[in-house]
Amino acid sequence: MLHAHALFSAPARPRALPERPTEETASLPGAVASDVLDLVGDSPVLRLRGLPTSAGTVVAKLEGLNPGGSMKDRTAAAMLRSALRSGELAPGGHVVESTSGNFGVGLAQAAAVLGLQLTCVVDPRCPRTSIQAMRAMGATVELVTEPDPVTGDLLAARLNAVQRLLDADPGAYWPNQYANPENPAAHAAGTMAELDDLFGGQLRAVYVATSTTGTLRGCADLIAARGRRTQVIAVDALGSVLFGGTRATRLLPGYGAGVVPKLAEGAAPDGVVRVADCDAVAWCRHIARTDGLLMGASGGAVVAAAAQAQRDDDGPVAVILADRGAAYLDTVYDDDWVHEHLGAIPHVAGELVAQS
Ligand SMILES: Cc1ncc(COP(=O)(O)O)c(C=O)c1O
Repeated sequence: MLHAHALFSAPARPRALPERPTEETASLPGAVASDVLDLVGDSPVLRLRGLPTSAGTVVAKLEGLNPGGSMKDRTAAAMLRSALRSGELAPGGHVVESTSGNFGVGLAQAAAVLGLQLTCVVDPRCPRTSIQAMRAMGATVELVTEPDPVTGDLLAARLNAVQRLLDADPGAYWPNQYANPENPAAHAAGTMAELDDLFGGQLRAVYVATSTTGTLRGCADLIAARGRRTQVIAVDALGSVLFGGTRATRLLPGYGAGVVPKLAEGAAPDGVVRVADCDAVAWCRHIARTDGLLMGASGGAVVAAAAQAQRDDDGPVAVILADRGAAYLDTVYDDDWVHEHLGAIPHVAGELVAQS
């Protein structure tokens, strides 16, 4: 049941641009992308310097450099294109989805290019800039402020609101990123395949933050399909119910879950690391200063997990940094916010040596 919500409506979307190149665009060099979705994927990989030497070589896949700012650009485009191909979604149709922020931005970007209407359901943990980005690209944003009365969970309340919107518009399409097989498939064919190709199958481990578990499943699927030894480590928020976790208050958006999604059923990562909010925040702030890299909260969590592992030099490990830090400047990177919510500014533990 929806207790309180605010509705921001968007003006009617202009007619979609023609799919075929016009005479003018046809004469451009091949490297010029024909639409923004062509720029999704092939994210760069960076060696991190700010970890303890005991952690070995840690590289980061910078998914925040996708055009919409997160790895959800991949899954959003894949799900909408697949639904248009299958006919589940009609051309010019209405898409309804629940999002913690990034998926909504990815959907808004893809919906703009594909000429679709979009309504995103968010909760107060969604960064303000993500809501602004969704609206700027033409989406309608519905904000759910009260948790579900049965579970006490905000995600459950968002899903209730999605159901209400679908009931009101029977022709609407719900990508349902929590169960859609296109979600892991996009990460298998994209995120993990790119990493595996780059390292010729020699990665020792990959650390993946989890919510829908689409990234985790996709990485695991690709590694199994190619018969690699790479371990897939799930990085979950302390207080998330994934992988048998116990529900507790969580501060940071993006990763962790209050409801076990369908995709998580049967997921069997090689390890699970639960990271406290204060450790994720400490690592975000640390890496910003050692590496000049502003990453999102879940990036702090995966780096915290990789940093605590003791390793001989038996191959590099990768962390997938799901988004970038701009949306977290008012929270994770803001001293007053951190003082207010965590009591003090947290610092990373142990002796750290910047690696050159
Ligand atoms: C910033 C961030 N990190 C991690 C995740 C978790 O990824 P997945 O949904 O593939 O489990 C998300 C998902 O929304 C996210 O937005």
